[in-house]
Amino acid sequence: MNFKGKTAVVTGASSGIGKEVALSLASKGCEVCCLDINDEGLKVAEQITSQGFRACFYHVDLTIEDDVNSSIEDILIKKNKIDILVHSAGISTKCNLKDLTLDTWNKTININLTSTFLITKAVSRVMIDQNYGRIVIISSGSAITGTGGGPHYAASKAGQIGLTRSLSNELAKHNITVNAIGPRSIDTPLLDKLYGEDYKKDVIKRIPLGRMGTAKDVSELVIFLVSDESSFITGQFILVDGGRTFSN
Ligand SMILES: NC(=O)c1ccc[n+]([C@@H]2O[C@H](COP(=O)([O-])OP(=O)(O)OC[C@H]3O[C@@H](n4cnc5c(N)ncnc54)[C@H](O)[C@@H]3O)[C@@H](O)[C@H]2O)c1
Repeated sequence: MNFKGKTAVVTGASSGIGKEVALSLASKGCEVCCLDINDEGLKVAEQITSQGFRACFYHVDLTIEDDVNSSIEDILIKKNKIDILVHSAGISTKCNLKDLTLDTWNKTININLTSTFLITKAVSRVMIDQNYGRIVIISSGSAITGTGGGPHYAASKAGQIGLTRSLSNELAKHNITVNAIGPRSIDTPLLDKLYGEDYKKDVIKRIPLGRMGTAKDVSELVIFLVSDESSFITGQFILVDGGRTFSN
């Protein structure tokens, strides 16, 4: 798949899945704008440019509407278009309902779900004017199993799927596809912070394919869904979980 001449916005590009997507898209000729609250994304953009590809970094808190809108406006001024949006930014914390505070609930919904609304709204305006776009939202298998840290996380991730289906209907007439991916048990810093090494040894026993997933496993599907080759696929939610979710 060739992405020469395309421009992508990748959120959560400083770490894990988003970082891998940014590196992979760039290596295929796509110009990548990395958005993250963590300035490690600057190094990701530098790594891409040092390899002879094109990238830039924006420090953005994706829960702040003005910051989201101003970064997208600046990208539009400088790059003139946005073909692809991959929204990978997110957080997960472990908590049961009885201990869940409104503060943790609001923070999780804001970062995982409200950010999805803000970034898709800002980018889709540009895509509608171009009559072209590919949007991929990184949700979670937890959206359908109700796991992954707790009810706040599962609810935020399920909300992303509802948003994906709704946007896919609304934006189809503008030649914009919108799909969601449900990773599960992907070995990234998020999983390390949440569970640690012992969890990995244990969870592998519940994964039919017998290993943890990698950010690359997820990015391979992202690449297909943001390519021209996937032009008749929209409104879908696809698991990348080694078979875990529907195993016996
Ligand atoms: N790793 C897994 O097993 C797994 C499983 C299911 C779903 N996911 C989802 O995949 C996505 C990526 O997760 P990951 O494992 O790569 O995690 P990660 O922690 O490695 O990366 C997440 C990135 O999001 C950024 N971010 C967080 N809050 C932000 C904000 N307010 N504004 C801008 N950026 C912000 C972080 O700085 C970080 O760079 C998340 O949405 C996560 O819920 C991951």
